[in-house]
Amino acid sequence: MDAVKRQLHLNLFIHGRGHHEASWRHPASSPRALTDIRYYQDLAQRAEAALFDSVFLADQLALGDDASQAARTWLEPVTVLAALAASTSKIGLIGTCSTTYTEPFNLARQFGSLDHISNGRVGWNIVTSWLATAAANFGGSGQISHSDRYARGEEFMTVVKALWDSWAADAVIDDRDHGRYALPERIRPINHKGDCYQVAGPLNLPRTPQGRPVFVQAGSSDTGRRFAARHAEAVFTAHLEKATAQAFYADLKSLTAAEGRSPGQVVILPGLSPMIAATEAEAQRLARELNELSDPEVGRKRLSGRFGGHDFSNLPLDRPLVPEDFPATASVEAARSRTEVILSLVRRESPTLRQLLGTLAGARGHFTFAGTPEQVADLIDDWFTDGAADGFNIMPPLLPSMLDVFSAEVIPLLQRRGLFRTAYEGATLREHYGLPWPQSSFDAAMREKV
Ligand SMILES: Cc1cc2nc3c(=O)[nH]c(=O)nc-3n(C[C@H](O)[C@H](O)[C@H](O)COP(=O)(O)O)c2cc1C
Repeated sequence: MDAVKRQLHLNLFIHGRGHHEASWRHPASSPRALTDIRYYQDLAQRAEAALFDSVFLADQLALGDDASQAARTWLEPVTVLAALAASTSKIGLIGTCSTTYTEPFNLARQFGSLDHISNGRVGWNIVTSWLATAAANFGGSGQISHSDRYARGEEFMTVVKALWDSWAADAVIDDRDHGRYALPERIRPINHKGDCYQVAGPLNLPRTPQGRPVFVQAGSSDTGRRFAARHAEAVFTAHLEKATAQAFYADLKSLTAAEGRSPGQVVILPGLSPMIAATEAEAQRLARELNELSDPEVGRKRLSGRFGGHDFSNLPLDRPLVPEDFPATASVEAARSRTEVILSLVRRESPTLRQLLGTLAGARGHFTFAGTPEQVADLIDDWFTDGAADGFNIMPPLLPSMLDVFSAEVIPLLQRRGLFRTAYEGATLREHYGLPWPQSSFDAAMREKV
């Protein structure tokens, strides 16, 4: 019998009317309001029909200063995922929530509830929130440093894991005849007392269908990678070239092994924003058309946000950039890895500011590609088989049109090559990603007794 071929994983990253900065203005993007839940439900249903593993919603805790020229709308992800859970039945649902600006008990309840509501399809994108302006919305005492955010995130993980583990899977007996709803010895407090959190527990909710949500993470700095190696089961990452994606892949798999986990326990998903048409020339024309709609001043503001608010307003648009035009990466308290992606492009290619902003407008530093369905399938196949990816975070430049083209034209090619499922086999996100079940400490204690 043929061995089953290693399977590719696909996540749909839902973002505005598409990932291109100017997508909201393009006639091929959705006419619906970005506050209309039917827009998100429709996208999730399309992704489910195409057999994607999951959909993903990012989140930021501040508006941004370009709301007049860019479609900035951040419907709260937990709320949206609850609506998506009720309007889909198979696809995984991943939402972002910050360890810096929420309490572990709240988060454990919210994602625990979502896992119940969706029957085990939820993933949590763990972020420490890099955006400096978010701090001003939560107490106003300034941004917590990069290292303190990760230190707090570590303790946060200890607390939420214990909360999700505070009920044994068989704690609820719901015995009406004998008046016993739950077994008290199968529910226990956590009594956490740490530097940042004091949490008694237990959680006020039974153990969830997946035991706990799937842990997703996207930090790529050294600290971020170590955090991912300890906790993450799926990792999103941004690369502008295959070589850096390969280096990241090898490094994260070996860090994961060093943490005593099997490298198969973490699914690595680089971002890919494909513009697809019947010919390469047509795909490139579409990409140009979209680029021409973007406003370099919006890009300049976003670049400043990436570098923790650094002032780029005096930088001319048409002179080649040098690394000295940017602050040192180590001094940036925002998203350190993305600043590194940008700086290495500057070192490699010396683009002008206009060219750099054009590159970032496509998908904010993720890989963009314009070509035919065959070329996109070749690229996916190549990265997947050549140590750069376990799958992709698909970031259509225009939604829903480029998702539809990807689903109708690229996915069948991947299926024909035996790389992608032709039906859902499992029912949970954990099963779609091929991840092991988290062990309950109650069961572990039982086994020791036997
Ligand atoms: C695909 C992707 C999605 C992300 N989504 C979010 C998000 O929704 N909210 C957020 O605050 N950060 C988000 N991030 C940023 C990371 O979580 C992380 O904070 C950032 O990469 C900085 O961490 P680092 O300095 O360890 O790289 C995302 C990153 C990637 C690659």
